Amino acid sequence: MLIYIPFYDIISIKKVISMDYFDYKNGKLYAEDVDVSMLAEKFKTPLYIYSSRTIIEHLRKIKSAFKEFDTLVCYSVKANSNISILKLIAEEDAGFDVVSGGELFRVLKAGGNPKKIVYAGVGKTPEEIFYALKTGILMFNIESVEELQTINKIAKNLKIKADVALRINPDVDAHTHSYITTGKKENKFGINIILANSLFNTAKKYKHINIKGIDMHIGSQITIIQPYIDAIKKLKNFIEQIKSFSKNLEFFNIGGGMGIIYKDEKPATAAEFASEISPYIKDLNLKLIIEPGRFIVGNGGILVTSVIYNKKGINKNFLIVDAGMNDLIRPALYGAYHSIIPVKQIKGKNILYDIVGPICESADFLGKDRHLPDLKQGDLIAIRSAGAYGFVMSSNYNSRPRAAEVLVQNNKYKLIRKRETYEDLIKLEI
Ligand SMILES: Cc1ncc(COP(=O)(O)O)c(C=O)c1O
Repeated sequence: MLIYIPFYDIISIKKVISMDYFDYKNGKLYAEDVDVSMLAEKFKTPLYIYSSRTIIEHLRKIKSAFKEFDTLVCYSVKANSNISILKLIAEEDAGFDVVSGGELFRVLKAGGNPKKIVYAGVGKTPEEIFYALKTGILMFNIESVEELQTINKIAKNLKIKADVALRINPDVDAHTHSYITTGKKENKFGINIILANSLFNTAKKYKHINIKGIDMHIGSQITIIQPYIDAIKKLKNFIEQIKSFSKNLEFFNIGGGMGIIYKDEKPATAAEFASEISPYIKDLNLKLIIEPGRFIVGNGGILVTSVIYNKKGINKNFLIVDAGMNDLIRPALYGAYHSIIPVKQIKGKNILYDIVGPICESADFLGKDRHLPDLKQGDLIAIRSAGAYGFVMSSNYNSRPRAAEVLVQNNKYKLIRKRETYEDLIKLEI
């Protein structure tokens, strides 16, 4: 039985004890009401399996936590961009945060409402800006003066005004992994407050720009609220200074980054988060935008993989499985921890293993020093909390076809991305 630290507020017993809908029934792992080993047999491994219920509940949870404010939840597409997942989210009437023309294309294919799309990223190309302006998105989150000038020029050619928010770098430490810290002055993201101030003063010269928002995003997998409060306070001061001469200001976007449980973290709940930042937001009279990615999909997916070899050594035992760093790079890239469990519970003594993939890199591991049963070739294990930054960061390294993806809803399932084939690996090569 998988018991986790309370994650949800007290709404139902199920929600109090469990963070997702992957659980054992009679010793076999289920995704909602679907037998995981049956899916692995049918679709082969490595296989990403997502739970619709987990994803929708997390989205509703964060929406409801922020209902005190006029809030637009823009799901951050980079966390998981499969069109079927985006569709689920669009059907809940959420907005989207995109960072590329490709993500924008996916959201539109999934039926997302352009008027609820915000577009962030330090390197938007002129082609991407043109595409987003033609699409009629809600706004760009601008990250540099050159970007502002480029958008102004393209909007002029199109004879329109582009709606934008200024992404401000508040210079706070989010206390997360350095690779996913984005709100410190040494990071490439956003513009500093002094420059933002002068941009507001000179905004009139950008005739095709309408600055209607202030934006921040300080990092990802943030488990404490204080960095948000520190950043919001700085931006609140700034907004109060410029409000008298920026009549079009309508939105305050506080970004994403809310952390989830991978191991034993105790992230603030969505409700705690909303209530603690409320005093700094409510009297600004601006609409709020939040951009959660991981919070919505992180616990909503597992990666199922089969044992290729159980290699017992003198110093270490290795469980060599058919998923590698090309399928899930988070452990290799960030030293990230994912809980790993057998798909069938087996009685008997556990053994200490490193769970590793077949790739020719020592960074190719999924978990180190884990206790698992004495598994044999073909046995299945599940890597939990793989719904965010899992498949989207996968690659064909070592010429490995990318995994298939399946979406479960109650006792139903559907293949939402086919496994790649060897032919797929070469089909674009000339
Ligand atoms: C601008 C922006 N918004 C939102 C997110 C989503 O972050 P998370 O998945 O941690 O919520 C990111 C992720 O890096 C981001 O760069």
